[in-house]
Amino acid sequence: MIKKCLFPAAGYGTRFLPATKSMPKEMMPVVNKPLIEYGVEEAIDAGMDGMCIVTGRGKHSIMDHFDKNYELEHQISGTNKEELLVDIREVIDSANFTYIRQREMKGLGHAILTGRELVGDEPFAVVLADDLCVNEGDGVLAQMVSLFKQFRCSIVAVQEVPEDETHKYGVISGEMIKDNIFRVEDMVEKPEKGKAPSNLAIIGRYILTPDIFELIEGTEPGKGGEIQITDALLKQAKSGCVLAYKFKGHRFDCGSVEGYIEATNYCYENLYLKDDKVSTLGKQATQKSQK
Ligand code: G1P
Repeated sequence: MIKKCLFPAAGYGTRFLPATKSMPKEMMPVVNKPLIEYGVEEAIDAGMDGMCIVTGRGKHSIMDHFDKNYELEHQISGTNKEELLVDIREVIDSANFTYIRQREMKGLGHAILTGRELVGDEPFAVVLADDLCVNEGDGVLAQMVSLFKQFRCSIVAVQEVPEDETHKYGVISGEMIKDNIFRVEDMVEKPEKGKAPSNLAIIGRYILTPDIFELIEGTEPGKGGEIQITDALLKQAKSGCVLAYKFKGHRFDCGSVEGYIEATNYCYENLYLKDDKVSTLGKQATQKSQK
């Protein structure tokens, strides 16, 4: 039902300089996989097959990653290293990747509007790849898709954060209509300290109905002089309905060094070591280095 997922990926990733000076922040590896691949896998697991990526200057390696690399594949063909490409090959075979360049950085709302040509006139998901989300059961997007089937309106994923951190996020308030589901009444982008309407912070997973594009077009620059998706969503909430969903799972802010390290440790212990093929290869590598 929701087939397309938009990835705003034009940002500079300044919090990770110098690593991101020439490498897109979306390509930072968490253990052995780039951040954006986790997001794409989450979208595929939620039934999506159209990955719409909004890129900018210097982001070519994202396109190369989701494409064949004949030279490398020829080189390792027939060796046990080939197993390490199983996941990315599956990703490439399961989805179509389309790209559009955002020429100017005018905020998340503007990035989403830039993706309009790729998304068309249908409900779609948005993933901010530096929010890495993992869950043992259904992924966060899959949880949101089942909610969308029920309510057919835009949905933002939220999580409770400590009060002294609300200024880093879009923050919602609203009436709880069911366990973990709120009908949004207010929404503020990065509220000043002490002025947040609640401690429910938006994290980088959205499902948006296509009328959002016109609402973004009519949205003036807000916080930081940027066109904010939060402001367009508040208009949608006031004229119709927007839900906020307290999702099941862990979320790591991989845009910060601390969150990135936490994600790396978590994924190493809970995903990498449990993956048969990589752990076998990993063990061989360890044995070699001990010799
Ligand atoms: C963006 C959104 C913000 C949201 C956050 C989640 O902010 O504007 O509402 O809470 O993503 O990561 P950014 O972190 O890109 O400044």
